[in-house]
Amino acid sequence: MKNKKSKEYLKLIENNKEWAATVVKEDPEFFSRLSNTQKPDFLWIGCSDSRVPADRITGTQPGEIFVHRNIANMVVHTDMNLLAVLEYAVDHLDVKHIIVCGHYGCGGVKAAMSRHNFDLINKWIRNIKDVYRMHRNTIDFQTKPEDRLNKLIELNVEEQVMNLAKTSIVQKAWKNKKSPEIHGWVYSLEDGLIKEICNMTHENHLDPLYEFDDL
Ligand code: CO
Repeated sequence: MKNKKSKEYLKLIENNKEWAATVVKEDPEFFSRLSNTQKPDFLWIGCSDSRVPADRITGTQPGEIFVHRNIANMVVHTDMNLLAVLEYAVDHLDVKHIIVCGHYGCGGVKAAMSRHNFDLINKWIRNIKDVYRMHRNTIDFQTKPEDRLNKLIELNVEEQVMNLAKTSIVQKAWKNKKSPEIHGWVYSLEDGLIKEICNMTHENHLDPLYEFDDL
């Protein structure tokens, strides 16, 4: 039996044809140029939220950002997917910047603040609960619930930037090529603007407990 494809699905295929035609019209070499190689300067670690598309909000084009997204833009040390993306971006693509981009009103962070059981997702958001626990005083100091949520969103981005700095991948790159720079951002769904939260370079240091001495 032939599947009847929905209108909203078919629209994507139609949009794609239009998009490809427009690109070629404006820049006939675009696809032949990009199909041979990619040399992005940026690695993006963002939330899977559909309202935070890395390229649209930064005005970048295909080929400019290497992207990894997951619920609440987490850098989890046992996440093989993230680690493979990170190693490839840093060692092979030689990205100059890594951006961890959270967003205000993040549902993943909100879920972590609640006591609701999300089954398998509990395992993922437990990492965010740990950030909450570490910064409990700063967060609970805020009186309004939405301020508490947004504070945790900012602190979570900071912790993920530090989690990147804790990897041997980043530490080796910092030692050998003084790159990449790591940036923590929070995007606002309300006005479309990015707030720069924090920054780390090869000149910054972590608690020495996390710094490998034999890279
Ligand atoms: Co989110």
